[in-house]
Amino acid sequence: MTKKTLNEWQREASVYITGGMSSSFRANQFTGVPMYAEKADGARFIDLAGKEYIDFFMCHGAVLLGHNCPEVKRALILSIEKGFFAGMDSPETVTFAEKLCRAVPAAEEIRFVNSGSEGTLLALRLARGYTGKDKIIRIDGHFHGVHDYLLANNLVSKVDYENDGNRASRTIGRTAGIPYIIDQVVIPIPWNNIEIMERILKEQDDEIGGIIMNVIDYNNGCFLTTSKYLQQVRMLADKYNVVLIFDEILSGFKTGVSCGHGYYGVVPDICTLGKALTNDVPMGIVVGKKEIMSKIMDPVNPVIAGGTFSGNQLGIAAGNAVMDILCRPGFYREYLPRVEKFYEELKKLFNSYGFPAVVQGLGAGFYIYIGTDKPLETYSDLKRTNKPLAKDFFTSCIRHGLYFHTDFTVSAAHDQGTLDEALSRFEDVLKEF
Ligand SMILES: Cc1ncc(COP(=O)(O)O)c(C=O)c1O
Repeated sequence: MTKKTLNEWQREASVYITGGMSSSFRANQFTGVPMYAEKADGARFIDLAGKEYIDFFMCHGAVLLGHNCPEVKRALILSIEKGFFAGMDSPETVTFAEKLCRAVPAAEEIRFVNSGSEGTLLALRLARGYTGKDKIIRIDGHFHGVHDYLLANNLVSKVDYENDGNRASRTIGRTAGIPYIIDQVVIPIPWNNIEIMERILKEQDDEIGGIIMNVIDYNNGCFLTTSKYLQQVRMLADKYNVVLIFDEILSGFKTGVSCGHGYYGVVPDICTLGKALTNDVPMGIVVGKKEIMSKIMDPVNPVIAGGTFSGNQLGIAAGNAVMDILCRPGFYREYLPRVEKFYEELKKLFNSYGFPAVVQGLGAGFYIYIGTDKPLETYSDLKRTNKPLAKDFFTSCIRHGLYFHTDFTVSAAHDQGTLDEALSRFEDVLKEF
């Protein structure tokens, strides 16, 4: 039997599935072709040609405990054996919510949804419904999912680079189907610039109901902020009666169980979570202050929040199992130092080959910027990187069995042996340059 290439698989899949993939974000950013897998286990997966990869993509950064995690699998099987259903909550739903409220500083109350995008959509509606003000401030370049409100200006490829920091950014990259009218209620501004945020809040005080931002920007690699900036944002949100939303769908649980806002010590009014929390099983979660969340139950003019599969029992079962692991004493103490050591080893390896690359990581999320040797602080610093070289480098990584796409992640299943093997494969790649 001849083995098909990924291109051939995509052509075949395209007969019935638009583009041959279930998500348009699945075409690999370096090779241009989606990956099709036979199976995945721990830190590795096997493609349809039987080739094995060490996975640093980990389902868009959604898998911190490894694929096919035994504890999650057991919880799913138990849930199925018990007799699975949807459309009704269960004691397990409450147990999961309780675990989250104990561990996550922003979580006083919870609502379960089905995806991250649904979560940020509800978060915006809560901000508007609670304050009675329709406009939302967003950060130019931050990703928050695929609904109409937040799809423009959502990645570094769609940032208003001409903004000198003294004005709101222009809407960039509004793709087909997104109404122009959205621009009237969404104001993109540059990150880590408190002055422009304050000016806009002052000017449109009675119109702005929410601010949404990522606490750690892993969607564009690994760009960071400071506790000071987040504290200032917190103060402005209080001063101008604006709901502060942190989107931690990607950053949640990567620096510890208290998430990015626990790491920086700044608690938002609403926080969106998902991905790592259910480890390969779909679910999204909106957590927040009781006073704001209770607008959902307002008897007169509620914020509507509901869905057929919201709080589905498989997601709940997975989430309970994940929380039990993340909350184990010593879990992060054992896991994160190994990850940090890996970043250091990788940096040393690049240096020893004189290859221009910056490894930038915080907790379990990282990125390798190719073509520069100085850390990147702002999106404009990306001009220093070398895109064609990055394409060649990561395509070669993939050939050598190191899988990269968006959102580079080191999971807890990447044990020392796997990371050593990854370093040796990196060395093979570097020998080619
Ligand atoms: C920061 C952030 N917010 C929201 C989302 C949307 O989540 P989902 O893909 O589950 O809709 C993502 C997904 O990548 C994300 O990284």
